[in-house]
Amino acid sequence: MMLRVKDLSAGYGSLNVLDRVSLGVEASEVVALFGHNGAGKTTLLKAIFGLLGDARGEVSFRDENILNQAPKNLTSHGIALVPQGRGVFANLTVAENLRLGLLAAGVKANSAEGERRLERVFQHLPLLRERFHERAGRLSGGQQQMVSIGRALVLGPSLLLMDEPSIGLSPKIVQEVMHLVRRLRDEAGLAVLLVEQNVRHALKVAQRVYVLKAGTVILETTPQQLSDLKSLWDLF
Ligand SMILES: Nc1ncnc2c1ncn2[C@@H]1O[C@H](COP(=O)(O)OP(=O)(O)O)[C@@H](O)[C@H]1O
Ligand SMILES: [Mg+2]
Repeated sequence: MMLRVKDLSAGYGSLNVLDRVSLGVEASEVVALFGHNGAGKTTLLKAIFGLLGDARGEVSFRDENILNQAPKNLTSHGIALVPQGRGVFANLTVAENLRLGLLAAGVKANSAEGERRLERVFQHLPLLRERFHERAGRLSGGQQQMVSIGRALVLGPSLLLMDEPSIGLSPKIVQEVMHLVRRLRDEAGLAVLLVEQNVRHALKVAQRVYVLKAGTVILETTPQQLSDLKSLWDLF
């Protein structure tokens, strides 16, 4: 397993949200994480990404213990987060948003390495080249999501944690986001832990699925085994 989470418990102060969650993501694998609002999906990604500070249990990446490590360290390990709500800076241009990603990776924007990283992102997201100097706030929701994903990709990750990337987007754009996820896996070899409400779409790209309910993993399965989608909904 590239990412291995075992018996992870975490929350906010005295509020415990995650109760001994275990899951794994293999290299170049897309794993979907489903669950109702409030189930703890975002909390889980935050705990993995070191944003909660006092998570308990085991989190390892390529056999190295990364429990409660600061996001900066996780970035250098090759983990990037595409946060819920995108976190795009509306008043900054696409270029400036992407440079924030480079900055986080410790790469100078106008260096050869910076250029190389931007080029690699443009290969997957040509839109970002086309709108490079435009204010991000002028872009559509779907385009802003691409900026958010682009900013994570300039970090050069091997594992992407994506928190509801398709929320609020039209079905056509949801499909585009899912196609992008598939391409990132197939062409760039990325592993993706994908939190999604659009179950049907996510099942088309995921190789494995976990369902989280009230802070606990209640199901681990594959899309093939989920032939009866209704039974999945009943579980939620
Ligand atoms: N910053 C926070 N402080 C306190 N409680 C929080 C915070 N963020 C989320 N929670 C609580 O943690 C639980 C899980 O939330 P969350 O992980 O955001 O769920 P999901 O992403 O599955 O919708 C909810 O009960 C929510 O109210
Ligand atoms: Mg959430």
